[in-house]
Amino acid sequence: MTQRLLGMDGLKRHYETPAGIVKALDGVSFAIHQGERVILLGPSGSGKTTLLNCLSALDSPTGGDYTFLGEEVPRNNSEKMTSFRRENIGYVFQFFNLLQDLTVLENILLIQELAGKKDPARAKELLRMVGLESEINRFPGEISGGQQQRVAIARSIAKRPTLLLGDELTGNLDTETSNKVMEALVSACKQENITSVFVTHDEGLVKYATRVIRIDSGKIVSDEQTGNDEEA
Ligand SMILES: Nc1ncnc2c1ncn2[C@@H]1O[C@H](COP(=O)(O)OP(=O)(O)O)[C@@H](O)[C@H]1O
Ligand SMILES: [Mg+2]
Repeated sequence: MTQRLLGMDGLKRHYETPAGIVKALDGVSFAIHQGERVILLGPSGSGKTTLLNCLSALDSPTGGDYTFLGEEVPRNNSEKMTSFRRENIGYVFQFFNLLQDLTVLENILLIQELAGKKDPARAKELLRMVGLESEINRFPGEISGGQQQRVAIARSIAKRPTLLLGDELTGNLDTETSNKVMEALVSACKQENITSVFVTHDEGLVKYATRVIRIDSGKIVSDEQTGNDEEA
């Protein structure tokens, strides 16, 4: 048995709007164990981004419980929410957000420096893990979109997050490139024992997950193991 990482119980995120209450999340309950690779699927407007934002404590739920490693996750307190994110969460953006004036390697070194632990050997190892060992001295503008996304993955795991999140992170890549990106991601997460939750509307990514949670209108409609991995 692997350790339980987090749990949501009856989680709600309601918005009050002039047109009435929008129930973006309306009673979501699940637990995630360490090493799981979860894909969150659902139609547009179903609550996927809201759920990721609650998982990362970027947003505060309006009801229900959320615990992480046995402790209540802070809400309605931006300082505590920021330090929770800094300690636990990694994030891969859809549009990479690499610094264009820095080389591939320097993009990773910068993140390490910001976290207070520069480690060039590990930075190079991370880039090797995502298959970019021969591109480390190039600039983001000199490599392909898929390669840039792999740099972004290396950067997101450089601080060894406990939980790695991504929202449509292959959203602007073609199928072949997004497969390469997902393969790099899975292998890095396995090596570093990182738990992940990725939002997508692309059924083709299910093969990379150990578990698929489907959401619709703010509620979980199915939650299944894929059988892709023994260890999770
Ligand atoms: N700030 C907000 N104010 C009001 N409604 C919102 C806000 N953010 C999201 N919503 C609504 O919550 C629902 C879920 O949105 P979202 O989580 O972005 O869905 P998804 O990522 O699955 O497309 C939608 O109906 C959306 O319009
Ligand atoms: Mg969304």
